[in-house]
Amino acid sequence: MTNPSLLILPGDGIGPEVMTEVRKIIDWFAAKRGVTFDVSEDLVGGCAYDKHGTPLHDDTMARAQEVDAVLLGAVGGPKYDSLDFSVKPERGLLRLRKEMDLFSNLRPAQCFDALADFSSLKKDVVAGLDIMIVRELTSGVYFGEPRGIFEEGNERVGINTQRYTESEIDRVARSAFELAMKRDKRLCSMEKANVMESGILWREVVTEVGKDYPEVELSHMYADAGAMQLTRWPKQFDVIVTDNLFGDLLSDLAAMLTGSLGMLPSASLGAPMDNGRPKALYEPVHGSAPDIAGTGQANPCACILSFAMALRYSFDMGEEASRVERAVEKVLADGIRTGDLLNEEGATPATTTQMGDAVVAALDASL
Ligand code: IPM
Ligand code: MG
Repeated sequence: MTNPSLLILPGDGIGPEVMTEVRKIIDWFAAKRGVTFDVSEDLVGGCAYDKHGTPLHDDTMARAQEVDAVLLGAVGGPKYDSLDFSVKPERGLLRLRKEMDLFSNLRPAQCFDALADFSSLKKDVVAGLDIMIVRELTSGVYFGEPRGIFEEGNERVGINTQRYTESEIDRVARSAFELAMKRDKRLCSMEKANVMESGILWREVVTEVGKDYPEVELSHMYADAGAMQLTRWPKQFDVIVTDNLFGDLLSDLAAMLTGSLGMLPSASLGAPMDNGRPKALYEPVHGSAPDIAGTGQANPCACILSFAMALRYSFDMGEEASRVERAVEKVLADGIRTGDLLNEEGATPATTTQMGDAVVAALDASL
């Protein structure tokens, strides 16, 4: 049997630093669990632009289509701010999502017990929080045509188009219902059916798909009210399904409820490949954090937990995924924390390397 293959794209900023720590976890699995991945590494984002003049080389794109899973660090940085829109680092990520057709983006917002004090909300509002946002990732206003900046009379007009087909809504809704079935069987769909036709269609299709999942309690909310409810009492939600742009906003909001952007992983899943595994890309929710890049302060947990999601969703290794998640929890509970997870005066933050090593030690202790 061939080993499962993994393409690692560390990207820019803190991406390479946090990915170094993930490599330790991958090595640990090979050494201690007999699970060996065929790992290859390549460029995406600004570093790819520096080398190839494009944020994603065609060869890298082709490789991403072949492997069992892609693990990405982060893209972007101030150095690339003035680049033409078409070659900005973000375009590399968006191309991966679009061409791999990764329509279902899973963004868990989970509050780790040890970090409940960290939220800007009251502790009882966030303690034990465990919600999953399913964001549509390959359509909507991010990709709809027409788009561009055009001349109209004697001024310019900027245009983007919110566009959803029934089948695009259907497939992401199904993935959200499937997830809800494995969780608390509650799904809330968010759109703006009060002002947008695409929202009306969204609501109709989600309702229709819901008939195939009678056990799931389906509710609908306007996305603005959803944002308000997320900050008021987030624990009312189990799974949320929403479009690309609302999902971008709501997932940042939900992430911050947990008080620790540096802890949150994500999975972007597409249709099953010939081997039955979904096309998949895993990445931390945080960005490239150029302000701390290269200083050894970055929190590697979100990227490590993204690898755990890969174990669960691509490699059918849910037990091993939980092992990694528990190891991270143990490290936090033991008080080993990077600077983003510390608020006491005078506390010494762990470095990126120390944090990764501590997770490896916790994995050892789990055997
Ligand atoms: C995200 C990011 C991206 C997005 C950017 C980097 C293109 O904000 O993954 O949430 O807008 O989708
Ligand atoms: Mg975002």
